[in-house]
Amino acid sequence: MSEIHDVVIIGGGPGGYVAAIRCAQLGLNTVCIDAWKNARGRASLGGTCLNVGCIPSKALLESSEHFFQIQHKISAHGIAVQGATVDVPAMIARKDKIVTTFTAGIASLFKKNGVKSVLGTGKLLKRTDGETAWTIEVTNGEATQTIQAEHIIVATGSVPRQLPMIEIDNNRILDNIGALSLSETPQRLGVIGAGVIGLEMGSVWRRLGAEVTILEAMPDFLMAADTQIAQEARKILTKESGLHIQTGVKINSINSGDASVTIDYLDADGNAQQLEVDKLIVAVGRIPNTSGLGIEENGLKLDDRGFIAVDDCCRTNLPDVYAVGDVVRGPMLAHKASEEGIFVAEAIAAMIKDGDESHEAIDFNTIPWVIYTSPEIAWVGKTEQELKAAGVSYKTGQFPFMANGRARAMNEAAGFVKVLADAETDRVLGVHMIGPHVSEMISEAVMAMAFSACSEDIAAIVHAHPSLSEVFHEAALGANNRALHI
Ligand code: FAD
Ligand code: NAI
Repeated sequence: MSEIHDVVIIGGGPGGYVAAIRCAQLGLNTVCIDAWKNARGRASLGGTCLNVGCIPSKALLESSEHFFQIQHKISAHGIAVQGATVDVPAMIARKDKIVTTFTAGIASLFKKNGVKSVLGTGKLLKRTDGETAWTIEVTNGEATQTIQAEHIIVATGSVPRQLPMIEIDNNRILDNIGALSLSETPQRLGVIGAGVIGLEMGSVWRRLGAEVTILEAMPDFLMAADTQIAQEARKILTKESGLHIQTGVKINSINSGDASVTIDYLDADGNAQQLEVDKLIVAVGRIPNTSGLGIEENGLKLDDRGFIAVDDCCRTNLPDVYAVGDVVRGPMLAHKASEEGIFVAEAIAAMIKDGDESHEAIDFNTIPWVIYTSPEIAWVGKTEQELKAAGVSYKTGQFPFMANGRARAMNEAAGFVKVLADAETDRVLGVHMIGPHVSEMISEAVMAMAFSACSEDIAAIVHAHPSLSEVFHEAALGANNRALHI
Protein backbone atom coordinates (compact mmCIF):
# COMPACT_ATOMS: atom_id res chain seq x y z
CA MET A 1 0.00 0.00 0.00
CA SER A 2 1.57 3.34 -1.04
CA GLU A 3 1.70 6.38 1.22
CA ILE A 4 -1.45 8.51 1.18
CA HIS A 5 -0.49 12.19 1.10
CA ASP A 6 -2.67 15.00 2.39
CA VAL A 7 -2.46 16.94 -0.88
CA VAL A 8 -1.24 16.38 -4.42
CA ILE A 9 -1.01 19.45 -6.64
CA ILE A 10 -0.96 18.97 -10.41
CA GLY A 11 0.91 21.91 -11.94
CA GLY A 12 3.82 23.94 -10.59
CA GLY A 13 2.96 27.44 -11.89
CA PRO A 14 2.13 30.39 -9.60
CA GLY A 15 -1.18 28.71 -8.70
CA GLY A 16 0.29 25.29 -7.96
CA TYR A 17 3.71 26.04 -6.47
CA VAL A 18 2.37 28.70 -4.11
CA ALA A 19 -0.42 26.34 -3.01
CA ALA A 20 2.22 23.66 -2.39
CA ILE A 21 4.37 25.92 -0.21
CA ARG A 22 1.34 27.10 1.80
CA CYS A 23 0.06 23.52 2.26
CA ALA A 24 3.48 22.46 3.56
CA GLN A 25 3.70 25.52 5.84
CA LEU A 26 0.39 24.42 7.34
CA GLY A 27 1.82 21.00 8.11
CA LEU A 28 0.26 19.07 5.23
CA ASN A 29 2.13 16.23 3.58
CA THR A 30 2.36 17.73 0.09
CA VAL A 31 3.45 16.63 -3.39
CA CYS A 32 3.65 18.95 -6.43
CA ILE A 33 3.72 17.33 -9.87
CA ASP A 34 4.86 19.47 -12.78
CA ALA A 35 5.66 18.61 -16.37
CA TRP A 36 7.86 21.60 -17.36
CA LYS A 37 11.43 20.59 -18.25
CA ASN A 38 14.46 22.72 -19.02
CA ALA A 39 16.85 22.08 -21.93
CA ARG A 40 18.70 19.51 -19.79
CA GLY A 41 15.51 17.55 -19.10
CA ARG A 42 15.35 18.73 -15.48
CA ALA A 43 12.26 20.13 -13.73
CA SER A 44 11.75 23.84 -14.28
CA LEU A 45 9.15 24.93 -11.73
CA GLY A 46 7.18 28.15 -12.06
CA GLY A 47 4.87 27.27 -14.96
CA THR A 48 4.06 29.62 -17.79
CA CYS A 49 4.64 32.68 -15.63
CA LEU A 50 8.24 31.97 -14.81
CA ASN A 51 9.35 29.97 -17.84
CA VAL A 52 7.68 31.75 -20.76
CA GLY A 53 5.42 34.47 -19.37
CA CYS A 54 5.51 37.20 -16.74
CA ILE A 55 9.18 37.18 -15.80
CA PRO A 56 10.96 36.63 -19.14
CA SER A 57 8.67 39.16 -20.84
CA LYS A 58 9.43 41.76 -18.18
CA ALA A 59 13.17 41.07 -18.48
CA LEU A 60 13.02 41.80 -22.22
CA LEU A 61 10.73 44.81 -21.72
CA GLU A 62 13.28 46.24 -19.29
CA SER A 63 16.28 45.62 -21.57
CA SER A 64 14.56 46.96 -24.67
CA GLU A 65 13.34 50.06 -22.80
CA HIS A 66 16.96 50.95 -21.93
CA PHE A 67 17.86 50.82 -25.62
CA PHE A 68 14.81 52.88 -26.56
CA GLN A 69 15.66 55.48 -23.91
CA ILE A 70 19.23 55.76 -25.19
CA GLN A 71 18.07 56.09 -28.77
CA HIS A 72 15.10 58.39 -28.38
CA LYS A 73 14.84 59.95 -24.94
CA ILE A 74 18.15 60.35 -23.16
CA SER A 75 19.12 63.38 -25.30
CA ALA A 76 16.40 65.38 -23.50
CA HIS A 77 18.63 65.14 -20.40
CA GLY A 78 21.55 66.65 -22.27
CA ILE A 79 23.26 63.31 -22.71
CA ALA A 80 24.47 62.23 -26.13
CA VAL A 81 25.15 58.57 -26.80
CA GLN A 82 26.59 57.53 -30.12
CA GLY A 83 26.83 54.09 -31.65
CA ALA A 84 24.59 52.23 -29.22
CA THR A 85 23.99 48.69 -30.46
CA VAL A 86 21.95 45.72 -29.30
CA ASP A 87 23.28 42.21 -28.76
CA VAL A 88 20.02 40.25 -28.93
CA PRO A 89 21.54 36.87 -27.93
CA ALA A 90 23.10 38.56 -24.85
CA MET A 91 19.73 40.09 -24.00
CA ILE A 92 18.03 36.70 -24.34
CA ALA A 93 20.77 35.05 -22.27
CA ARG A 94 20.23 37.60 -19.47
CA LYS A 95 16.50 36.82 -19.56
CA ASP A 96 17.21 33.06 -19.47
CA LYS A 97 19.52 33.48 -16.49
CA ILE A 98 16.82 35.32 -14.55
CA VAL A 99 14.42 32.47 -15.32
CA THR A 100 16.80 29.71 -14.24
CA THR A 101 17.67 31.59 -11.03
CA PHE A 102 14.01 31.78 -10.08
CA THR A 103 13.07 28.22 -11.11
CA ALA A 104 15.95 26.98 -8.98
CA GLY A 105 14.66 29.29 -6.23
CA ILE A 106 11.29 27.53 -6.23
CA ALA A 107 13.04 24.15 -6.02
CA SER A 108 14.91 25.39 -2.91
CA LEU A 109 11.69 26.77 -1.41
CA PHE A 110 10.14 23.32 -1.91
CA LYS A 111 13.11 21.73 -0.16
CA LYS A 112 13.01 24.21 2.70
CA ASN A 113 9.29 23.70 3.27
CA GLY A 114 9.28 19.95 2.72
CA VAL A 115 7.25 19.85 -0.51
CA LYS A 116 7.95 16.70 -2.53
CA SER A 117 8.53 17.70 -6.18
CA VAL A 118 7.78 15.17 -8.94
CA LEU A 119 8.65 15.76 -12.60
CA GLY A 120 6.09 14.41 -15.05
CA THR A 121 2.55 14.64 -16.38
CA GLY A 122 -0.15 13.84 -13.87
CA LYS A 123 -3.46 12.15 -14.64
CA LEU A 124 -6.30 11.67 -12.21
CA LEU A 125 -7.28 7.98 -12.22
CA LYS A 126 -10.88 6.93 -11.75
CA ARG A 127 -11.75 6.43 -8.11
CA THR A 128 -13.76 3.31 -7.37
CA ASP A 129 -16.66 3.33 -4.91
CA GLY A 130 -15.53 3.27 -1.31
CA GLU A 131 -12.02 4.63 -2.02
CA THR A 132 -11.30 7.76 0.00
CA ALA A 133 -7.97 8.66 -1.60
CA TRP A 134 -7.32 9.81 -5.15
CA THR A 135 -4.64 8.17 -7.27
CA ILE A 136 -2.58 10.20 -9.74
CA GLU A 137 -0.62 8.48 -12.45
CA VAL A 138 2.56 10.37 -13.27
CA THR A 139 4.32 9.76 -16.58
CA ASN A 140 7.82 10.99 -17.30
CA GLY A 141 9.10 9.63 -20.61
CA GLU A 142 8.91 5.84 -20.31
CA ALA A 143 8.61 5.81 -16.53
CA THR A 144 5.25 5.76 -14.76
CA GLN A 145 4.45 5.95 -11.06
CA THR A 146 1.32 6.43 -8.99
CA ILE A 147 0.88 8.85 -6.08
CA GLN A 148 -2.08 8.88 -3.70
CA ALA A 149 -3.65 11.77 -1.82
CA GLU A 150 -6.77 12.72 0.11
CA HIS A 151 -7.00 16.10 -1.63
CA ILE A 152 -6.13 17.22 -5.15
CA ILE A 153 -5.46 20.74 -6.39
CA VAL A 154 -5.51 21.03 -10.19
CA ALA A 155 -3.36 23.98 -11.34
CA THR A 156 -2.56 23.03 -14.92
CA GLY A 157 -2.77 26.58 -16.29
CA SER A 158 -3.41 27.61 -19.87
CA VAL A 159 -1.97 27.31 -23.36
CA PRO A 160 -2.12 29.72 -26.33
CA ARG A 161 -5.30 29.71 -28.38
CA GLN A 162 -4.50 28.73 -31.97
CA LEU A 163 -5.89 30.20 -35.17
CA PRO A 164 -7.35 27.52 -37.46
CA MET A 165 -5.55 28.83 -40.56
CA ILE A 166 -1.94 28.54 -39.35
CA GLU A 167 0.29 26.39 -37.20
CA ILE A 168 2.76 27.82 -34.71
CA ASP A 169 6.27 26.66 -35.63
CA ASN A 170 8.13 29.09 -33.37
CA ASN A 171 10.41 29.81 -36.28
CA ARG A 172 8.40 32.18 -38.45
CA ILE A 173 4.99 31.94 -36.75
CA LEU A 174 5.47 32.52 -33.05
CA ASP A 175 3.51 32.17 -29.84
CA ASN A 176 4.76 33.62 -26.55
CA ILE A 177 7.56 31.03 -26.38
CA GLY A 178 8.99 31.98 -29.78
CA ALA A 179 8.41 35.70 -29.24
CA LEU A 180 10.60 35.55 -26.12
CA SER A 181 13.47 33.76 -27.83
CA LEU A 182 14.23 35.45 -31.17
CA SER A 183 17.94 35.52 -31.94
CA GLU A 184 17.76 38.80 -33.85
CA THR A 185 15.36 41.70 -34.28
CA PRO A 186 13.09 41.07 -37.27
CA GLN A 187 12.91 43.96 -39.69
CA ARG A 188 9.13 43.59 -40.08
CA LEU A 189 7.09 42.00 -37.29
CA GLY A 190 3.38 41.25 -37.48
CA VAL A 191 1.27 40.59 -34.41
CA ILE A 192 -2.25 39.14 -34.48
CA GLY A 193 -4.14 40.33 -31.39
CA ALA A 194 -3.73 43.70 -29.67
CA GLY A 195 -4.19 42.12 -26.25
CA VAL A 196 -1.74 42.08 -23.39
CA ILE A 197 0.82 39.76 -25.00
CA GLY A 198 0.56 41.47 -28.39
CA LEU A 199 1.21 44.89 -26.88
CA GLU A 200 4.01 43.78 -24.55
CA MET A 201 5.87 41.63 -27.08
CA GLY A 202 5.19 44.12 -29.88
CA SER A 203 6.72 46.83 -27.66
CA VAL A 204 9.86 44.78 -26.97
CA TRP A 205 10.70 44.24 -30.64
CA ARG A 206 9.59 47.74 -31.69
CA ARG A 207 11.96 49.27 -29.14
CA LEU A 208 14.75 47.13 -30.61
CA GLY A 209 14.05 48.48 -34.09
CA ALA A 210 11.39 46.27 -35.73
CA GLU A 211 8.59 47.77 -37.80
CA VAL A 212 5.63 46.38 -35.86
CA THR A 213 2.06 46.05 -37.19
CA ILE A 214 -0.62 44.77 -34.82
CA LEU A 215 -3.88 43.47 -36.28
CA GLU A 216 -6.82 43.33 -33.87
CA ALA A 217 -10.26 41.84 -34.59
CA MET A 218 -12.27 43.94 -32.15
CA PRO A 219 -13.48 47.35 -33.34
CA ASP A 220 -12.13 49.13 -30.26
CA PHE A 221 -8.68 49.05 -28.71
CA LEU A 222 -8.14 47.35 -25.30
CA MET A 223 -11.81 46.84 -24.61
CA ALA A 224 -11.24 45.46 -21.10
CA ALA A 225 -9.66 48.73 -19.98
CA ASP A 226 -11.43 51.98 -19.13
CA THR A 227 -12.29 53.56 -22.50
CA GLN A 228 -10.55 56.85 -21.76
CA ILE A 229 -7.36 55.02 -20.74
CA ALA A 230 -7.57 52.80 -23.83
CA GLN A 231 -7.88 55.85 -26.10
CA GLU A 232 -4.92 57.55 -24.45
CA ALA A 233 -2.90 54.33 -24.66
CA ARG A 234 -3.61 53.91 -28.36
CA LYS A 235 -2.57 57.49 -29.02
CA ILE A 236 0.72 57.22 -27.13
CA LEU A 237 1.60 53.70 -28.32
CA THR A 238 1.05 54.81 -31.90
CA LYS A 239 2.67 58.25 -31.79
CA GLU A 240 5.50 57.78 -29.32
CA SER A 241 6.20 54.05 -29.33
CA GLY A 242 5.66 53.75 -33.10
CA LEU A 243 3.39 50.68 -33.07
CA HIS A 244 1.06 50.44 -36.09
CA ILE A 245 -2.23 49.30 -34.60
CA GLN A 246 -5.23 48.38 -36.77
CA THR A 247 -8.51 47.44 -35.12
CA GLY A 248 -11.66 45.87 -36.58
CA VAL A 249 -9.73 43.63 -38.99
CA LYS A 250 -10.73 40.20 -40.23
CA ILE A 251 -7.89 37.82 -41.00
CA ASN A 252 -8.64 35.77 -44.10
CA SER A 253 -5.45 33.79 -44.58
CA ILE A 254 -1.89 33.52 -43.37
CA ASN A 255 0.77 32.01 -45.62
CA SER A 256 4.20 31.22 -44.30
CA GLY A 257 6.87 31.13 -47.02
CA ASP A 258 10.62 30.50 -46.93
CA ALA A 259 11.50 34.13 -46.37
CA SER A 260 8.37 35.84 -45.06
CA VAL A 261 4.76 35.53 -43.89
CA THR A 262 1.86 37.03 -45.84
CA ILE A 263 -1.36 37.95 -44.08
CA ASP A 264 -4.46 38.69 -46.13
CA TYR A 265 -7.14 40.55 -44.22
CA LEU A 266 -10.03 42.96 -44.45
CA ASP A 267 -9.53 46.30 -42.72
CA ALA A 268 -12.18 48.03 -40.62
CA ASP A 269 -13.76 49.49 -43.77
CA GLY A 270 -13.99 46.06 -45.39
CA ASN A 271 -11.15 46.71 -47.87
CA ALA A 272 -8.84 43.82 -48.73
CA GLN A 273 -5.31 44.35 -47.41
CA GLN A 274 -2.09 42.39 -47.42
CA LEU A 275 0.75 42.53 -44.93
CA GLU A 276 4.12 40.91 -45.46
CA VAL A 277 6.35 40.39 -42.43
CA ASP A 278 9.49 38.50 -41.48
CA LYS A 279 7.99 37.04 -38.29
CA LEU A 280 4.44 36.83 -37.02
CA ILE A 281 3.38 36.61 -33.38
CA VAL A 282 -0.04 35.06 -32.81
CA ALA A 283 -1.44 36.25 -29.47
CA VAL A 284 -5.20 35.77 -29.64
CA GLY A 285 -5.85 34.70 -26.07
CA ARG A 286 -5.18 31.59 -24.02
CA ILE A 287 -7.33 28.55 -23.29
CA PRO A 288 -7.47 26.37 -20.16
CA ASN A 289 -5.11 23.39 -20.19
CA THR A 290 -7.19 20.33 -19.33
CA SER A 291 -5.83 17.80 -21.81
CA GLY A 292 -4.68 14.42 -20.49
CA LEU A 293 -5.90 15.15 -16.97
CA GLY A 294 -8.50 12.39 -16.82
CA ILE A 295 -11.43 14.78 -17.10
CA GLU A 296 -13.83 12.47 -18.94
CA GLU A 297 -13.01 9.31 -16.96
CA ASN A 298 -13.80 11.07 -13.71
CA GLY A 299 -16.73 13.20 -14.87
CA LEU A 300 -14.89 16.39 -13.85
CA LYS A 301 -17.21 19.16 -14.96
CA LEU A 302 -16.06 21.91 -17.34
CA ASP A 303 -17.95 25.15 -17.93
CA ASP A 304 -19.22 26.19 -21.35
CA ARG A 305 -15.84 27.82 -22.18
CA GLY A 306 -13.83 24.71 -21.31
CA PHE A 307 -12.55 25.90 -17.91
CA ILE A 308 -12.80 23.49 -14.97
CA ALA A 309 -16.07 24.48 -13.29
CA VAL A 310 -15.53 25.61 -9.68
CA ASP A 311 -17.57 27.39 -7.04
CA ASP A 312 -16.48 30.55 -5.21
CA CYS A 313 -14.18 28.41 -3.05
CA CYS A 314 -12.45 26.72 -6.02
CA ARG A 315 -14.22 23.40 -5.34
CA THR A 316 -14.90 21.23 -8.41
CA ASN A 317 -17.83 18.80 -8.67
CA LEU A 318 -15.55 15.95 -7.49
CA PRO A 319 -15.11 15.44 -3.74
CA ASP A 320 -11.83 16.89 -2.37
CA VAL A 321 -10.73 18.03 -5.83
CA TYR A 322 -10.05 21.77 -6.18
CA ALA A 323 -8.84 23.79 -9.16
CA VAL A 324 -7.06 27.18 -9.25
CA GLY A 325 -5.43 29.66 -11.63
CA ASP A 326 -5.75 29.93 -15.40
CA VAL A 327 -7.56 26.58 -15.66
CA VAL A 328 -10.62 28.08 -13.89
CA ARG A 329 -12.80 31.17 -14.49
CA GLY A 330 -11.57 34.68 -13.73
CA PRO A 331 -8.64 36.73 -14.94
CA MET A 332 -5.64 34.82 -16.28
CA LEU A 333 -3.14 36.50 -14.00
CA ALA A 334 -0.32 35.07 -11.92
CA HIS A 335 -1.31 36.91 -8.74
CA LYS A 336 -4.91 35.69 -9.08
CA ALA A 337 -3.62 32.11 -9.48
CA SER A 338 -1.39 32.43 -6.39
CA GLU A 339 -4.17 33.97 -4.31
CA GLU A 340 -6.45 31.06 -5.17
CA GLY A 341 -3.63 28.62 -4.39
CA ILE A 342 -3.18 30.09 -0.91
CA PHE A 343 -6.94 30.21 -0.38
CA VAL A 344 -7.39 26.51 -1.22
CA ALA A 345 -4.35 25.43 0.82
CA GLU A 346 -5.80 27.19 3.87
CA ALA A 347 -9.26 25.74 3.22
CA ILE A 348 -7.89 22.18 3.02
CA ALA A 349 -5.77 22.64 6.15
CA ALA A 350 -8.73 24.06 8.08
CA MET A 351 -10.91 21.17 6.99
CA ILE A 352 -8.35 18.52 7.94
CA LYS A 353 -7.69 20.17 11.32
CA ASP A 354 -11.15 21.17 12.50
CA GLY A 355 -13.62 20.24 9.75
CA ASP A 356 -14.15 23.95 9.02
CA GLU A 357 -15.64 24.23 5.53
CA SER A 358 -16.70 27.90 5.63
CA HIS A 359 -14.47 30.28 3.71
CA GLU A 360 -14.97 33.77 2.41
CA ALA A 361 -14.55 33.90 -1.38
CA ILE A 362 -11.73 35.88 -3.03
CA ASP A 363 -12.80 39.37 -4.12
CA PHE A 364 -11.98 39.52 -7.85
CA ASN A 365 -12.95 43.20 -7.85
CA THR A 366 -9.70 44.13 -6.09
CA ILE A 367 -7.38 42.16 -8.37
CA PRO A 368 -5.16 44.62 -10.23
CA TRP A 369 -4.37 44.49 -13.94
CA VAL A 370 -1.11 45.83 -15.34
CA ILE A 371 0.08 46.09 -18.93
CA TYR A 372 3.81 46.72 -19.04
CA THR A 373 3.93 48.93 -22.11
CA SER A 374 5.55 52.35 -22.04
CA PRO A 375 3.84 54.13 -20.47
CA GLU A 376 2.43 51.41 -18.24
CA ILE A 377 -1.30 50.86 -17.90
CA ALA A 378 -2.85 49.67 -14.62
CA TRP A 379 -6.28 49.44 -13.13
CA VAL A 380 -8.37 47.97 -10.34
CA GLY A 381 -12.13 47.80 -9.85
CA LYS A 382 -14.80 49.00 -12.23
CA THR A 383 -14.27 50.96 -15.44
CA GLU A 384 -16.35 54.05 -16.19
CA GLN A 385 -18.24 52.18 -18.94
CA GLU A 386 -19.09 49.36 -16.50
CA LEU A 387 -20.45 51.86 -13.95
CA LYS A 388 -22.52 53.56 -16.66
CA ALA A 389 -23.90 50.23 -17.89
CA ALA A 390 -24.82 49.24 -14.32
CA GLY A 391 -26.56 52.58 -13.77
CA VAL A 392 -24.31 53.46 -10.82
CA SER A 393 -24.13 57.11 -9.92
CA TYR A 394 -20.44 58.04 -9.63
CA LYS A 395 -18.04 60.96 -9.53
CA THR A 396 -14.64 61.28 -11.17
CA GLY A 397 -11.30 62.77 -10.20
CA GLN A 398 -8.53 62.93 -12.77
CA PHE A 399 -4.99 64.28 -12.71
CA PRO A 400 -2.29 64.32 -15.44
CA PHE A 401 1.36 63.34 -14.95
CA MET A 402 2.16 66.49 -16.95
CA ALA A 403 1.39 68.55 -13.83
CA ASN A 404 3.58 66.40 -11.56
CA GLY A 405 7.09 67.60 -10.77
CA ARG A 406 8.64 64.16 -10.40
CA ALA A 407 7.21 62.94 -13.73
CA ARG A 408 8.53 66.09 -15.45
CA ALA A 409 11.95 65.61 -13.85
CA MET A 410 11.97 62.05 -15.18
CA ASN A 411 10.88 63.28 -18.62
CA GLU A 412 8.02 60.74 -18.38
CA ALA A 413 4.99 62.99 -18.17
CA ALA A 414 2.49 61.24 -20.46
CA GLY A 415 -0.73 59.85 -19.03
CA PHE A 416 -3.04 60.41 -16.08
CA VAL A 417 -4.76 58.82 -13.09
CA LYS A 418 -8.52 58.60 -12.78
CA VAL A 419 -10.40 57.82 -9.58
CA LEU A 420 -14.04 56.72 -9.76
CA ALA A 421 -16.03 56.97 -6.54
CA ASP A 422 -19.64 56.40 -5.61
CA ALA A 423 -21.50 59.72 -5.90
CA GLU A 424 -23.31 59.22 -2.60
CA THR A 425 -21.02 57.20 -0.34
CA ASP A 426 -17.70 58.40 -1.86
CA ARG A 427 -16.44 54.79 -1.73
CA VAL A 428 -13.76 54.14 -4.38
CA LEU A 429 -15.18 51.95 -7.15
CA GLY A 430 -12.30 51.94 -9.60
CA VAL A 431 -8.87 53.45 -10.23
CA HIS A 432 -7.35 53.69 -13.72
CA MET A 433 -3.80 54.73 -14.49
CA ILE A 434 -1.61 55.25 -17.51
CA GLY A 435 1.83 56.66 -16.90
CA PRO A 436 5.31 56.01 -15.48
CA HIS A 437 5.62 53.19 -12.93
CA VAL A 438 1.87 52.82 -12.48
CA SER A 439 2.50 49.05 -12.07
CA GLU A 440 3.85 50.01 -8.63
CA MET A 441 1.40 52.85 -7.92
CA ILE A 442 -1.68 50.69 -8.47
CA SER A 443 -0.98 48.83 -5.21
CA GLU A 444 -2.00 51.89 -3.22
CA ALA A 445 -5.35 51.90 -5.03
CA VAL A 446 -5.75 48.14 -4.43
CA MET A 447 -5.10 48.66 -0.73
CA ALA A 448 -7.58 51.54 -0.60
CA MET A 449 -10.27 49.44 -2.26
CA ALA A 450 -9.51 46.36 -0.17
CA PHE A 451 -10.09 48.49 2.94
CA SER A 452 -13.26 50.00 1.40
CA ALA A 453 -11.72 53.47 1.39
CA CYS A 454 -13.47 56.62 0.20
CA SER A 455 -11.74 59.06 -2.13
CA GLU A 456 -11.75 61.45 0.84
CA ASP A 457 -9.63 58.91 2.81
CA ILE A 458 -6.98 58.89 0.07
CA ALA A 459 -7.14 62.68 -0.16
CA ALA A 460 -6.45 62.88 3.58
CA ILE A 461 -3.24 60.80 3.37
CA VAL A 462 0.07 62.66 3.10
CA HIS A 463 2.01 61.66 -0.02
CA ALA A 464 5.74 62.30 -0.34
CA HIS A 465 6.81 65.24 -2.47
CA PRO A 466 7.96 65.10 -5.17
CA SER A 467 6.65 61.65 -6.07
CA LEU A 468 4.55 60.07 -8.80
CA SER A 469 2.06 58.99 -6.13
CA GLU A 470 1.00 62.64 -5.78
CA VAL A 471 -0.88 62.13 -9.06
CA PHE A 472 -3.11 59.55 -7.35
CA HIS A 473 -3.50 61.88 -4.38
CA GLU A 474 -4.52 64.78 -6.62
CA ALA A 475 -6.96 62.56 -8.56
CA ALA A 476 -8.60 61.59 -5.25
CA LEU A 477 -8.74 65.29 -4.26
CA GLY A 478 -10.24 65.94 -7.68
CA ALA A 479 -13.08 63.51 -7.00
CA ASN A 480 -14.13 66.01 -4.31
CA ASN A 481 -13.41 69.07 -6.48
CA ARG A 482 -10.38 69.90 -4.37
CA ALA A 483 -7.42 69.25 -6.71
CA LEU A 484 -4.71 71.81 -5.96
CA HIS A 485 -2.24 71.79 -8.81
CA ILE A 486 -4.54 72.00 -11.80
P1 FAD B 1 0.69 28.02 -15.37
O1 FAD B 1 1.64 29.06 -14.98
O2 FAD B 1 0.33 27.88 -16.79
O3 FAD B 1 1.30 26.67 -14.82
C1 FAD B 1 0.72 25.43 -15.08
C2 FAD B 1 1.77 24.37 -14.91
O4 FAD B 1 1.13 23.11 -14.93
C3 FAD B 1 2.81 24.34 -16.03
O5 FAD B 1 4.10 24.24 -15.48
C4 FAD B 1 2.48 23.07 -16.81
O6 FAD B 1 3.62 22.47 -17.38
C5 FAD B 1 1.91 22.21 -15.69
N1 FAD B 1 1.00 21.15 -16.16
C6 FAD B 1 -0.04 21.26 -17.00
N2 FAD B 1 -0.68 20.07 -17.11
C7 FAD B 1 -0.02 19.22 -16.31
C8 FAD B 1 -0.20 17.86 -15.96
N3 FAD B 1 -1.19 17.13 -16.46
N4 FAD B 1 0.69 17.30 -15.09
C9 FAD B 1 1.72 18.03 -14.56
N5 FAD B 1 1.92 19.31 -14.85
C10 FAD B 1 1.06 19.89 -15.70
N6 FAD B 1 0.32 37.33 -15.53
C11 FAD B 1 0.54 38.35 -14.67
O7 FAD B 1 -0.12 38.41 -13.62
N7 FAD B 1 1.50 39.31 -14.92
C12 FAD B 1 2.23 39.28 -16.04
O8 FAD B 1 3.08 40.15 -16.24
C13 FAD B 1 2.01 38.25 -16.97
N8 FAD B 1 2.74 38.18 -18.09
C14 FAD B 1 2.52 37.17 -18.97
C15 FAD B 1 3.26 37.13 -20.14
C16 FAD B 1 3.07 36.12 -21.05
C17 FAD B 1 3.88 36.10 -22.31
C18 FAD B 1 2.12 35.09 -20.78
C19 FAD B 1 1.93 33.94 -21.73
C20 FAD B 1 1.38 35.11 -19.62
C21 FAD B 1 1.57 36.15 -18.70
N9 FAD B 1 0.83 36.24 -17.53
C22 FAD B 1 1.03 37.27 -16.66
C23 FAD B 1 -0.18 35.23 -17.20
C24 FAD B 1 0.40 34.21 -16.20
O9 FAD B 1 1.53 33.62 -16.76
C25 FAD B 1 -0.64 33.18 -15.85
O10 FAD B 1 -1.82 33.80 -15.40
C26 FAD B 1 -0.12 32.25 -14.76
O11 FAD B 1 1.06 31.62 -15.16
C27 FAD B 1 -1.16 31.20 -14.40
O12 FAD B 1 -0.66 30.39 -13.40
P2 FAD B 1 -1.15 28.87 -13.26
O13 FAD B 1 -0.40 28.34 -12.09
O14 FAD B 1 -2.61 28.82 -13.24
O15 FAD B 1 -0.70 28.15 -14.59
P1 NAI C 1 -5.82 38.76 -24.69
O1 NAI C 1 -7.14 38.16 -24.43
O2 NAI C 1 -5.27 39.77 -23.77
O3 NAI C 1 -5.80 39.42 -26.14
C1 NAI C 1 -6.09 38.69 -27.29
C2 NAI C 1 -6.52 39.68 -28.36
O4 NAI C 1 -6.59 39.00 -29.59
C3 NAI C 1 -7.90 40.28 -28.09
O5 NAI C 1 -7.84 41.68 -28.16
C4 NAI C 1 -8.76 39.66 -29.17
O6 NAI C 1 -9.82 40.49 -29.57
C5 NAI C 1 -7.75 39.46 -30.27
N1 NAI C 1 -8.12 38.43 -31.24
C6 NAI C 1 -8.71 37.24 -31.02
N2 NAI C 1 -8.89 36.57 -32.18
C7 NAI C 1 -8.40 37.37 -33.16
C8 NAI C 1 -8.29 37.23 -34.57
N3 NAI C 1 -8.72 36.14 -35.21
N4 NAI C 1 -7.73 38.25 -35.26
C9 NAI C 1 -7.28 39.37 -34.65
N5 NAI C 1 -7.37 39.54 -33.30
C10 NAI C 1 -7.90 38.55 -32.57
O7 NAI C 1 -4.84 37.52 -24.86
P2 NAI C 1 -3.26 37.41 -24.96
O8 NAI C 1 -2.64 38.71 -25.32
O9 NAI C 1 -3.01 36.23 -25.81
O10 NAI C 1 -2.84 37.10 -23.48
C11 NAI C 1 -3.46 36.01 -22.78
C12 NAI C 1 -3.62 36.35 -21.35
O11 NAI C 1 -2.36 36.27 -20.68
C13 NAI C 1 -4.08 37.77 -21.06
O12 NAI C 1 -5.45 37.92 -21.19
C14 NAI C 1 -3.66 37.95 -19.66
O13 NAI C 1 -4.60 37.36 -18.81
C15 NAI C 1 -2.36 37.16 -19.60
N6 NAI C 1 -1.24 38.09 -19.71
C16 NAI C 1 -1.08 39.02 -18.73
C17 NAI C 1 -0.07 39.93 -18.80
C18 NAI C 1 0.03 40.96 -17.74
O14 NAI C 1 -0.60 40.82 -16.71
N7 NAI C 1 0.83 42.02 -17.93
C19 NAI C 1 0.92 39.93 -19.90
C20 NAI C 1 0.63 38.92 -20.90
C21 NAI C 1 -0.40 38.03 -20.77
